[in-house]
This record gives sequence, structure tokens and C-alpha cells, in this order.
Amino acid sequence: MKVGIIIGSIREGRTGEQVAVWVEKAAANRTDAEYGVLDLKDFDLPLLTSATVPGAANRQYDSVNVTRWSQAIDAYDAFVFVTPEYNHGIPGAFKNAFDTLGPEWTGKTVAFVSYGADGGVRATEQWRQVTANLHLHDVRASVALGLFSDFDETGLAPLERRDAELSAMLDELTRLTARLG
Ligand SMILES: Cc1cc2nc3c(=O)[nH]c(=O)nc-3n(C[C@H](O)[C@H](O)[C@H](O)COP(=O)(O)O)c2cc1C
Repeated sequence: MKVGIIIGSIREGRTGEQVAVWVEKAAANRTDAEYGVLDLKDFDLPLLTSATVPGAANRQYDSVNVTRWSQAIDAYDAFVFVTPEYNHGIPGAFKNAFDTLGPEWTGKTVAFVSYGADGGVRATEQWRQVTANLHLHDVRASVALGLFSDFDETGLAPLERRDAELSAMLDELTRLTARLG
């Protein structure tokens, strides 16, 4: 089983990278799946402008970068979306990256690690609605890192309970993925 940890921010100096590193480090101690990081920034995806709806494109895309993104997502069974909250919602670049593909997501599983002033929970809840449309199965457990509780002047400094929360979330994700086979 392969689990992709997606860094959902492409901003210069983004916080998302530290959060993904924290998830990746925890995942490295686990034997339930093979974990890898997918950094949205590496794909430099164009805004979706093609006439063909991705769900009907039969994985034939106009852009080489979109084809690379498609192949990357195809290679995973499950995902951890590391998502910031922008203006009380999901970040545009990440939503565009999601919209850009179709069947590559279908029937797979997803869990959310969010961050923001209020833990980014609004982004996670929006993602649950959005991902359902492509038949992704989301797990209930999530991790919400508060900018004022889980970060200090040096960066990410998660509260003690976060490791257990992350572990429980990954347990749930891999269990569900295995059951869906
Ligand atoms: C366009 C924009 C909108 C934001 N809106 C929110 C928000 O609605 N709620 C929140 O908690 N933080 C908000 N923030 C602050 C982000 O949580 C914070 O900048 C975080 O570091 C963003 O993640 P990133 O650095 O990985 O891009 C916003 C940041 C940006 C850039």
C-alpha cells in the first residue's frame, strides 16, 4: 500500500513544508504502508483551461506537467492532504491541482492534516465535501495544528498530543485502505 503525503501550499516560505516533514518523519517509523511526499510546487501545474473535462480526458492531458501529476497520483492508493486554510477555505492552487485530474483519485482514501489560526478545520471540512465528488473515502480522524498553539518562533512545535492524533489518523487511513482493497 502506498500513501502519498501532499504538500498543498506552493507559496514561497510556506509553512506546509514543515508540516509535511513532521508527517513524513512519523510515517517513517511505520510498517503499514510505504509513504512518500508529493510536493505540489514540484509539478508547477497550470490553471485548468482545457476544454475537455478531466474526468473525460482518458488521462490524455494537454500539459506535460499535468501528465506527470496524473502519473504521480496514479502511483498511490491513499493520501494525506497537508492543507492550509486560505480565507476560510481550501487553497486555490491545491483545489486546481485536485480539479485537474479525475480517475486518478477515484475510489482511493484520504486523511487531512490542516493548519491555521483555528487549526485550519474549515479547509478540512471543505475538502471532505470536495473529495467526495470523486469517490474518495475520507477518514474521520484528522490533525488540526493551531498557528498559536502548535508553532513557536522557531516554527512547528506540535503539542504533545499531536503525535498520538497523527498516529491514530494514519492507523484509520491504512485500515480503511486495506479494507477497500
Ligand atoms: C491568502 C491567505 C489567506 C489566509 N486566510 C486564512 C484563514 O482564513 N484562516 C487562517 O487560519 N489562516 C489564514 N491564513 C494564514 C495561513 O494560515 C498561514 O499563512 C499559513 O502559514 C499558510 O500556509 P502556507 O504557509 O503553507 O501557505 C491565510 C494566508 C493566506 C496566504
